[in-house]
Amino acid sequence: MSSLQRLQSLYPWIKTPLVVGAPMRLIALADMAVELSKAGGIGFIGAGTDVSDLESHVQKAQLLLQALPTPLASRSKTLPIGLGFINWGASLPDSIDIIKKYSPAAVWFFAPTSTTSLLEWTRSTRAASPDTQVWVQVGSVKEALDTVKTVTPDVLVVQGTDAGGHGLVRGASLITLLPEVQDAVRAAIVEQGGGEPPIFIAAGGIVEKRGAAAAHVLGADGVVLGTRLLASHEANIARGYQQEIIRASDGGQSTVRTKVYDNLRRTTGWAETHNARGVINRSYHDAISGMDEERNKQLYDEETKKGDAGWGTHARMTTYAGSGVGLVKEVKSVEDIVREIREGVEEVLGR
Ligand SMILES: Cc1cc2nc3c(=O)[nH]c(=O)nc-3n(C[C@H](O)[C@H](O)[C@H](O)COP(=O)(O)O)c2cc1C
Repeated sequence: MSSLQRLQSLYPWIKTPLVVGAPMRLIALADMAVELSKAGGIGFIGAGTDVSDLESHVQKAQLLLQALPTPLASRSKTLPIGLGFINWGASLPDSIDIIKKYSPAAVWFFAPTSTTSLLEWTRSTRAASPDTQVWVQVGSVKEALDTVKTVTPDVLVVQGTDAGGHGLVRGASLITLLPEVQDAVRAAIVEQGGGEPPIFIAAGGIVEKRGAAAAHVLGADGVVLGTRLLASHEANIARGYQQEIIRASDGGQSTVRTKVYDNLRRTTGWAETHNARGVINRSYHDAISGMDEERNKQLYDEETKKGDAGWGTHARMTTYAGSGVGLVKEVKSVEDIVREIREGVEEVLGR
């Protein structure tokens, strides 16, 4: 069976070329996830490191899905959306309770503390909800091989260094990473005695039809949108943040991978291997100019009281975004974004 046929049978509501919504912590919640799936993509709720309110988001998604005039066809009664976990922080038992109770079509794992921990998450998920597919986001050939050898993921999300938010400190763009990962994974599977390779989904820097088409040319079976969806009506995001996404351009220059924003926001706990890409602002300039971290934190805390005015190059609130941010020009509905990309890939590839 081809990867596309597999996708279609596992997620019967989708339309291809497949567009996936990244499980962005605090931002991709029920509205975004359900709209993504409704538009023929796969939507994920981003639980992140804290699953204490995840159940309420899943329940809301369930209600939204039940209210659709035509229910989305799903396999074995799984919920036609996914749930994304940042494994190093999320509680395994609490997450598994939710996975068991709601049977999402997929779970998305990211940044586990070790392959042993990833194996525990995967085994527990498969035991709790056998029809839930296990997606793992990786950012290097090594991570991809370790993952494939340890847990046999159903889907590998290959994240290039252009990605917004968290990822590996040392990375490569999708243009080199994806083909090398695919070659290495396929060779490893042959070496292990054969079997079906995972489905490969590309993430990082894909914002519009040309990037999405390029990812398919590189060998992706589908694409992830993160930064593009920050400028959607369904994003749970402050207006100031969203406007900064629309304003920023030339992402290679205007964004940076750094730990500065995690430190200011006290979202620490990430391994040394990971940092996050965001738009350069005043707190970043101050940090690299040598400002005392406590002072920078204090200024950050004061900025949080300014509301939307707290975002911008001369302000201090964090604008996590990928280097494709300059291609995001307008706030649109998830439905329009997904349709434009899907149809655009067909157009660019001349099918
Ligand atoms: C604001 C923001 C928050 C994110 N949060 C998460 C997260 O909680 N879990 C995760 O696995 N990935 C997260 N990511 C990374 C995405 O999964 C994805 O790899 C990335 O957005 C793709 O690159 P792009 O932003 O260029 O589209 C986040 C990305 C952004 C921009």
